[in-house]
Amino acid sequence: MQTEHKIILANSQQMPELADSSIHLMVTSPPYPMIKMWDTQFATINPQIARLWQKLEADGEEETVTQIYDAMHETLSRTWRETHRVLVDGGIACINIGDATRTLNGKFRLFPNHSRIIEHCEKTGFTTLPYILWKKPTTKPKYKGKGAFLGSGFLPPNAYVTLDCEFILLFRKGKLRHFPPNDPRRYESAFTKQQRDEWFTQIWDVIGTRQTTSQIERRTAAYPDEIVNRLIRMFTVKGDTVLDPFLGSGTTVKLAMQNDRNSIGYETDEKLLPLIEKKLTPEPATCKLSIINREN
Ligand SMILES: C[S@@+](CC[C@H](N)C(=O)[O-])C[C@H]1O[C@@H](n2cnc3c(N)ncnc32)[C@H](O)[C@@H]1O
Repeated sequence: MQTEHKIILANSQQMPELADSSIHLMVTSPPYPMIKMWDTQFATINPQIARLWQKLEADGEEETVTQIYDAMHETLSRTWRETHRVLVDGGIACINIGDATRTLNGKFRLFPNHSRIIEHCEKTGFTTLPYILWKKPTTKPKYKGKGAFLGSGFLPPNAYVTLDCEFILLFRKGKLRHFPPNDPRRYESAFTKQQRDEWFTQIWDVIGTRQTTSQIERRTAAYPDEIVNRLIRMFTVKGDTVLDPFLGSGTTVKLAMQNDRNSIGYETDEKLLPLIEKKLTPEPATCKLSIINREN
C-alpha cells in the first residue's frame, strides 16, 4: 500500500496545514512539565514561563511554583485543542507522559502531570478511556542529588516511593468510529489473540530505548518502537493517518511507515532533522516522505 508522510518543522499549537477531521490517531510524548531537561523549551515556547522562573527566584513563593506548573500545562493544552479539531469523530489520542518529582523552594514534591493532562483534555471535549501504565524501571527519583530510596535510609517515615511507571493516556473524540459491514481494511488490520491479550492489559512491561551519549539524541527522550507499534495497530486500520505533534526523533513516523499508515509529525527543533532523516532511512519503497518548513 502506498502511504504519505509529512514532517512539518513548526509549532503544533497551531496546525493550519491540517483540515478539520482529517486524522485518525494521535500518538505522542510531549515535553514533560517540571522535568528540568524541558525547562528551557517551555520558557522559549511560552515567554511567560521564563518570567515566572525569574519571579520564583526573587520571591520564593509557593504560588509562583503553581503558576509555572499551570502555565506549562496551558502551553501543552493548546496542542491538545488543535488535536481535537483535526481528529475524526471516533479518533483516538494517546499521550505518553510521566509525572515529575522535584525540589523547589527547599520542598520535595510530586507534580502529577498525568492528572493535569486528563483535566485539560476533558475540558477540550475528549472522553477519557482506561489508560496504560508503562512499567519503566529506569525512572529513579532523586532527592538532594542522591539516588533512589533516600530521605532517611531505613528509618521511617521520611523516604519516598520510586516512580516506576509512565502513563499512556487514552482519549476518544466523539462517538465510536463506524465502518461499512465487512470492510476489508479492518480485517486486514486485525491483531492476533496473543497480541490482543498482551496489548489490551493495563500494565506494559516494555524496555525503554537505550539513550545514546550524543547530546542531541538524549534530548529527544525517544520512546521505544514497540510502544508506538502497539498503539498504531490497536487504534487504526491500514491506510489511516497518524499524527505526532511532538515528533522528536521521528519514531511515530517510522512505525506508521512500517504499518501501512500515513503520518504527519510536527517538530519545532530543526536541529533534529538529521536525526529524523537517519531514523527514517532507508524509507520503504511504498512511502513518500516530504519535509515542510512552515517558515519558508
Ligand atoms: C519528548 S520529545 C518526543 C520524543 C519522541 N517521542 C521520539 O520518540 O523521539 C518532545 C519533542 O517535542 C518537541 N516540541 C516541544 N514543543 C513543541 C511544539 N509546540 N510543537 C512541535 N514540537 C514541539 C521538542 O522539540 C521535542 O523534540
